[in-house]
Amino acid sequence: KKIPAYLCPMLKSTLLKATQAGGKVLQQYFNGSFQISSKSSVNDLVTEADKNAETAIFSAIRENFPQHFILSEESGELSTDSNVKWIIDPLDGTVNFAHGIPICCTSIGVEQDGEMVMGAVYNPFMNEFFFAEKGKGATLNDKPIRISAKEDLNKACLVTGFPYTWEDSENNPITIFEHFVKKGQPVRRLGSAAIDLCWVACGRFDGFYEHSLNAWDAAAGFLIVEEAGGKVTDFSGKRYSPYQRTLIATNGLIHQSLVDVVNGKR
Ligand code: IPD
Ligand code: CA
Ligand code: CA
Ligand code: CA
Repeated sequence: KKIPAYLCPMLKSTLLKATQAGGKVLQQYFNGSFQISSKSSVNDLVTEADKNAETAIFSAIRENFPQHFILSEESGELSTDSNVKWIIDPLDGTVNFAHGIPICCTSIGVEQDGEMVMGAVYNPFMNEFFFAEKGKGATLNDKPIRISAKEDLNKACLVTGFPYTWEDSENNPITIFEHFVKKGQPVRRLGSAAIDLCWVACGRFDGFYEHSLNAWDAAAGFLIVEEAGGKVTDFSGKRYSPYQRTLIATNGLIHQSLVDVVNGKR
């Protein structure tokens, strides 16, 4: 009988190596000169660093697992016949990166038989490496992390993100933001969904919400938050899956209150 891949130490070492390789490419390009082009809109950017980080990640994975399925932002689905899928954001926070703002990372999640089993997020500029394995907790630079203990949404420090392009009038991010701004509540906008999630996991933020994410933005961070004791759902309150567009991640204690605000019920 096949050993589950998440029990396979090689899967973990490959994930760590691939994530480090991506982060190293980001460091090499940061603040240097690199090509930048636009994708869906003039400010939806992709740089040479995104593409070369992706190449470095692919080769680290393929060295050990040439048959595995890959879903990656800049290359799409590279599918083969495998029950293991690597969900990759080679550079999360491209706009920050292009402006020399060191809030960006490489994010990689590993899914097995439809379930996230491992995730790693590496911000080389702050020397922060987040990692989680299903059932084994979450760590920052090898030390265990926990979500915050804040019970009152009114006293919470939140983070959000805004999409590059507007898809629907539902879940209008301006209306939700306005609600908090009018109350004088701190809502940050870091510009990297993967880092937003990790900062919920380690208790810096009490909650994060965003309404137009892709699988690669949140696959790793989702597991990291859950393994740090937090809760991750879509805007309706159902357990999140990386194939959902909307996401709310919290310490669990303020979750329902945040779901209510996002749905205009508070
Ligand atoms: C983006 C970032 C940003 C979020 C966007 C994402 P990218 O990813 O995570 O914080 O608001 O929705 O697309 O393009 O920098 O990899
Ligand atoms: Ca991203
Ligand atoms: Ca990206
Ligand atoms: Ca992008």
